[in-house]
Amino acid sequence: MEFIYAQPAWVLLALAAVGLLVIARVAARLALWLYVAFLRPAKDLRRYGAWAVVTGATDGIGLAIAFRLADAGLGLFLVGRNPDKLASVAAEIRAKHPMVPEVRTFVLDFSSKGMVADVEALKEAIRGLDVGVLVNNAGVAYPHALYFHEVDEELLHSLFRVNVEGLTRVTQAVLPGMLKRKRGAILNIGSGSSAVLPSDPLNAVYSATKAYVDQFSRCLYVEYKSKGIDVQCEVPLHVATKMAPFIESSFTAPTADTYARAAVRQIGYEPRSGMLTSGSKRGKLKIESDERVEKVGHGLERNVTHTAGSGLGTD
Ligand SMILES: NC(=O)c1ccc[n+]([C@@H]2O[C@H](COP(=O)([O-])OP(=O)(O)OC[C@H]3O[C@@H](n4cnc5c(N)ncnc54)[C@H](OP(=O)(O)O)[C@@H]3O)[C@@H](O)[C@H]2O)c1
Repeated sequence: MEFIYAQPAWVLLALAAVGLLVIARVAARLALWLYVAFLRPAKDLRRYGAWAVVTGATDGIGLAIAFRLADAGLGLFLVGRNPDKLASVAAEIRAKHPMVPEVRTFVLDFSSKGMVADVEALKEAIRGLDVGVLVNNAGVAYPHALYFHEVDEELLHSLFRVNVEGLTRVTQAVLPGMLKRKRGAILNIGSGSSAVLPSDPLNAVYSATKAYVDQFSRCLYVEYKSKGIDVQCEVPLHVATKMAPFIESSFTAPTADTYARAAVRQIGYEPRSGMLTSGSKRGKLKIESDERVEKVGHGLERNVTHTAGSGLGTD
């Protein structure tokens, strides 16, 4: 302290000014984050077009987003691999949202051999529809923590086909119509495992497929922004769905419905978006892979202690 008091007044003033600037910057960032997360009004999604295409709409986040888009007054074109589940989801949405303009379904298994032809058929099925919103949500994950050499051919194939190729091809099928109409919003569901964590050991291929989704989205954001199309990547960390049966919903791991409400409010804004979904991965893992995660050691521990959330408004 004596050292500080011994300094000339101008040094003390300069230090105080620097301190004030730092505090003001932190406060401004916090205020902006709070505004974006809780106060900023959602866009009127009908201005993008009358229809929304949602892949993987039969469960979890995709199902919850479909409900929110019905709330927003959009017609729904729901894509899923299971015809029975699709039919019951469509019936549920019609029953709970009688005002929804229309609900159509389309069966497409992204991991099947006929996927490319099926996406072509999807392109035909939406021809003439004013599709304003595309939600590329269908995804698969590891059944549990695996070392890379343990990932078998079937899992590898399905991770590539569903998470990467399916998403890319559906985007290619829907985008030309949006370009013609000069408006649209594309929401790709990535993951905090690639966008937030510095690495995600025992989940390498899944995380790498989501890194593709993140970068693909950001490139498209730049390519198409000036053409009236908003492309965005959602980067959730933990959402309590059947994909993550070991996660209990909590403050740091929202339900699919809570997540979808937040995600839909962010459509059309920043190129990457997420919500406060961090928490300790180690604390949440309740399956036998727990022991394996322990074995990976400090690398993982270091990775999972920071806060996500963050995706909000970041670039
Ligand atoms: N939950 C999380 O913690 C979390 C975290 C980060 C990112 N994500 C991402 O969020 C997205 C949604 O995941 P979720 O948690 O909601 O999982 P989910 O409950 O398992 O839902 C996945 C959806 O994708 C569909 N799907 C899976 N394989 C398919 C295929 N081969 N062809 C067509 N559809 C297929 C599923 O269909 P069925 O209904 O027939 O199974 C389901 O509708 C995924 O992209 C996932 O990677 C999730």
